[in-house]
Amino acid sequence: MDLIFEKSRPGRRAGRVPDYGLPVPEVPAELRRATPPRLPEVAESEIVRHFTALADRTFGIDTGFYPLGSCTMKHNPRVDERVARLPGFRDLHPLQEDDGAQGALEIEWRLQQILAEIAGLPAVTLQPAAGSQGELTGLMLVRAYFDDRGEGDRRDTVVTADTAHGTNPASVTMAGYKLEKVETDARGNLDLADLRAKVDGRTAALMLTNPSTLGLFDEGIEEVARIFHDAGALLYYDGANLNAVVGRSRPGDMGFDIVHFNLHKTFSQPHGGGGPGAGPVAVRADIEPFLPSPQVVRDGGRFRLDHERPKSIGRVRGYSGPFGVFVRSYAFILAYGPALREMSDAAVLNANYVLARLKDVYELPYDRLCMHEFVLSARNLKRDYGITALDVAKRLMDYGIHPPTIYFPLVVPEALMIEPTETEPKERLDAFVDAMRRIAEEAAESPELLREAPHRRPVRRLDEVRAAKQLVVRYLFDDSVGAAPESARADSSARANP
Ligand SMILES: Cc1ncc(COP(=O)(O)O)c(C=O)c1O
Repeated sequence: MDLIFEKSRPGRRAGRVPDYGLPVPEVPAELRRATPPRLPEVAESEIVRHFTALADRTFGIDTGFYPLGSCTMKHNPRVDERVARLPGFRDLHPLQEDDGAQGALEIEWRLQQILAEIAGLPAVTLQPAAGSQGELTGLMLVRAYFDDRGEGDRRDTVVTADTAHGTNPASVTMAGYKLEKVETDARGNLDLADLRAKVDGRTAALMLTNPSTLGLFDEGIEEVARIFHDAGALLYYDGANLNAVVGRSRPGDMGFDIVHFNLHKTFSQPHGGGGPGAGPVAVRADIEPFLPSPQVVRDGGRFRLDHERPKSIGRVRGYSGPFGVFVRSYAFILAYGPALREMSDAAVLNANYVLARLKDVYELPYDRLCMHEFVLSARNLKRDYGITALDVAKRLMDYGIHPPTIYFPLVVPEALMIEPTETEPKERLDAFVDAMRRIAEEAAESPELLREAPHRRPVRRLDEVRAAKQLVVRYLFDDSVGAAPESARADSSARANP
């Protein structure tokens, strides 16, 4: 497919505004461009066709089944979009004074109350813009808490699981802590013996997601909490997997002291593989003074932003956070009402249904009931036919299905991490199961078919490392080729053009 710049022809325009002889605004000389921008010159019909063709090549949750484990790609109810676009929300300026923004502040305050109830912890900040930023905020709170107690210098280590999402160790390092990894035992729980050996007076916190990235609820969680609290350390809950437990179990009741939410996963919000979205953080009462500033508070019947927070870690994002996400999440939660737990129940049921129908064809490393997702291994296909998890994932695309997450968590070789979500009907789940079972048959009958997949997508196999590391996001005009880095020139000429 040609790029929009390659479709450009001098003088073509999408529209022309007649010359009404209006005065030309005076732009100061130092702000004026020396040369006009080199925009593509294309007729409107061609612009529409170009972007429609691109949209046709894009796969999303609105196109088909998207069981991307850990990312919770669920359907976003359209009514939430309508609500977020109401002029009173959409046109509100973030610097509007509190008196003119009572409705918006009330939504934020009410959302804080709801999230506090779901977490089982009393205080919430809405500021962080993604789960990963919630993690960093949480660890900054850990540091502020121990600094305040005079233990900041001593406690320099944060413990994570060997199944942890990549953002966990990244956040630990960014927050200036040393990282200690704990192993997973044969049932898929944290290995308590390994854990005991690694927790001591230097430990600041545990960072854990429960259910884990294996989709398993940690059966030893109470003992885990005891070990950390006995050592004077805190427990941080990575709430990215909260879709499994809302209304059933609360991180605060499990013993966690700080929790982040991924509103864009659990409470519906269009998002990519991970964020962007919102990553509010809930904390126990004695950590509340350190929460970011400002906080949304209620004084009688009035709501306001509280900036008087002397112990606060400060601001972690502009204004009070990503407001549109709050409106969507609030609308989503109210639409379920007291039945919110049915969301998690259906997510867990769907995952277990798919698991039960696949575990005789793919290896199941931990043979237990799963939560909202599960991890299979294509190790048997690799051993018997030389077919990898990547081959299975690529072949699924030929069946019109987005591949699951692969090669994560790292403790499972040839991992296929599958999260169907609660918004999929049984027919979609069955179609996925049928495709996965058929692919296992194809691995035995015609492995080349899998190795060369996908066959029916506009782009075949890519050098994925190069595609991720050497992005070319700028058009290279003929006269700029000499100035471009070697890698960009090579990529530009090798562009897939089916
Ligand atoms: C288990 C887990 N933790 C943390 C994150 C990070 O969240 P975000 O993508 O919103 O930064 C993710 C994202 O996919 C996740 O799956």
